[in-house]
Amino acid sequence: MRKKIVAGNWKMNNNKGETAELIQALKPLSFSPDIRVMIAPAFTHLAQAEKLTQGGRLEVLAQNMNASDSGAFTGEISAGMLYSIGINKVILGHSERRAYYNETDSSLKKKVETALTHNMEVVFCFGEELEDRKAGNYFEVIQTQLETALFDLTPSEWSKIILAYEPVWAIGTGETASPQQAQEMHAFIRGLIALKYDQVLADDVCILYGGSVKPANASAIFSMRDVDGGLIGGAALKAEDFMAIIQSV
Ligand code: 13P
Repeated sequence: MRKKIVAGNWKMNNNKGETAELIQALKPLSFSPDIRVMIAPAFTHLAQAEKLTQGGRLEVLAQNMNASDSGAFTGEISAGMLYSIGINKVILGHSERRAYYNETDSSLKKKVETALTHNMEVVFCFGEELEDRKAGNYFEVIQTQLETALFDLTPSEWSKIILAYEPVWAIGTGETASPQQAQEMHAFIRGLIALKYDQVLADDVCILYGGSVKPANASAIFSMRDVDGGLIGGAALKAEDFMAIIQSV
């Protein structure tokens, strides 16, 4: 049975001291064994975050990694490097990476394969742009993203995949998908997986919603049947807000 997950994507925020402070503030929080809580600090603070969270239930994930194992890729970080400091989870395909660093579903397919080769868990992000939503072709866009990046995976590889549906128009904009819009899309995604694989596998995949989740709207969104938690940006940077969101799942 799939668990609920609340993950905080800290993006390019928090220096070393602020990272430690936020982790210390989150550490006392207790939550049910059915819930997983993750945080994704910047690369420079992952080793520190890993140490500070040892023995607790906060899980640390990276925000990105390179598709190659090593080589002449100045400024890049490999899966093996992450693994060597105890990080075995990574966010891939965030819309900001797609928009500013030209990541595509085809290049992400390679990253996902590399991550799985290193036995890492992947939080795979995808979502439609505002134009797609307005044009009414958002289901097709989502289907293409998933088919291109993930539908060559074997059924057993899916045990390492967490999906994060993040409509681009809702990220950092204060706009959220309504709970009904989120549910409609999450059910569609689960249906696609059931068609390609089977219903048992589809029911096991955790599908998170991301895009302006706040304490005020979290419980309405999380109460939807196919929404298994959230990937949180801005509100994950304030311990109080993030904890309130965790309590809403
Ligand atoms: P916001 O919660 O700030 O909209 O960001 C969502 C997000 O991009 C999480 O990855």
